[in-house]
Amino acid sequence: MKGMRSVGILATGSYTPEKVLTNADLEKMVETSDEWIVTRTGIRERRISSEEQASSDLAYEAAKKALAKANISADQLDMIIVATVTPDNMFPSTACLLQEKLGATKAAALDVSAACTGFLYGIAVGSQFIANGMYRYVLVIGVETLSKITNYEDRNTCVLFGDGAGAALLGPVADGFGFLAFELGADGSGGPLLSLPAGGSRIPASRESVEQKLHYISMAGSEVFKFAVRVMNTATETVLEKAGLAKEQIDLLVPHQANLRIIDSAIKRFGLSEEKVVVNLDRYGNMSSASIPVALDEALAEGRLKEGDNVVLVGFGGGLTWGATLLRWSTREA
Ligand code: UT7
Repeated sequence: MKGMRSVGILATGSYTPEKVLTNADLEKMVETSDEWIVTRTGIRERRISSEEQASSDLAYEAAKKALAKANISADQLDMIIVATVTPDNMFPSTACLLQEKLGATKAAALDVSAACTGFLYGIAVGSQFIANGMYRYVLVIGVETLSKITNYEDRNTCVLFGDGAGAALLGPVADGFGFLAFELGADGSGGPLLSLPAGGSRIPASRESVEQKLHYISMAGSEVFKFAVRVMNTATETVLEKAGLAKEQIDLLVPHQANLRIIDSAIKRFGLSEEKVVVNLDRYGNMSSASIPVALDEALAEGRLKEGDNVVLVGFGGGLTWGATLLRWSTREA
């Protein structure tokens, strides 16, 4: 962007709850098998928050780690953006709850609702404020406690989801580094394919809505699957094109972790070797907006990223929504 400051990710942090729910545990809860879950999804276990833990609690743990790594105190933050479909409350926003927990007294705070694409929407929004010079530090968190809205009697959905939080501190970086391109998209006509039907203003909470189990995730799996394969590939191609890079120049792909078969389609399409693709869904399942930042944080901890690498983050989900970004990696603040 000409005349704009370059923006990158200065530090990341993540947190996942201690409690592990394995495929063997699920075999005792619904008619399923470890074999079905592993071959159809690649998932082996997921983390589940405790009864006392809400999304802002998980977000707080991830946020503290990101701030500590960047050596930034909470009162230096200009803005907090929380991407989630499992906010603590309808309002106040989870970002406001987190602002208070962190003591980020000067930070503006808002939630972004774009389901599994939420983290990408969040960094796309947050980075604008730094690019145009209005703010210096924006903290973006993808956090979900999907276990709280999952029906553990429905085998079509309960084997897929897990809880976790990932944070990224955005700030100015040297020209030529940081976010080189963004691609965001939405197709509201596909909204009913993946939704939480009740609890909003369309079907407010009532005895009937609870009895009909309308406060749980509802998903048309195979339709979402086809959409996911398509948009993951096109969104990645679009950011490559916008940044003027070829697929051979991708050093690391961090895809949304919904299903290993969806990730495999991208691996084939872009001719990527396994070391160039981050996969952690075997340990966490689908954590919606938390999947990408947790995967990125783990890749960094494993030393899989170095200054100057071309990194693609790509996601898709309810809305329907999709998004991708291409960054030239640098955590050096400018
Ligand atoms: O992050 C947001 C985006 N979400 C996604 O990207 C999810 C995308 N969708 C998927 O990952 C896959 O569609 C699923 C993993 C959800 C399902 O896999 P599938 O290969 O598309 O299976 P299917 O829905 O076509 O179902 C095949 C069969 C059905 O049985 P019938 O009707 O053929 O007899 C299901 O009832 O598998 C059955 N099934 C199960 N069997 C054992 C569904 N869930 C289970 C289960 N265990 N847990």
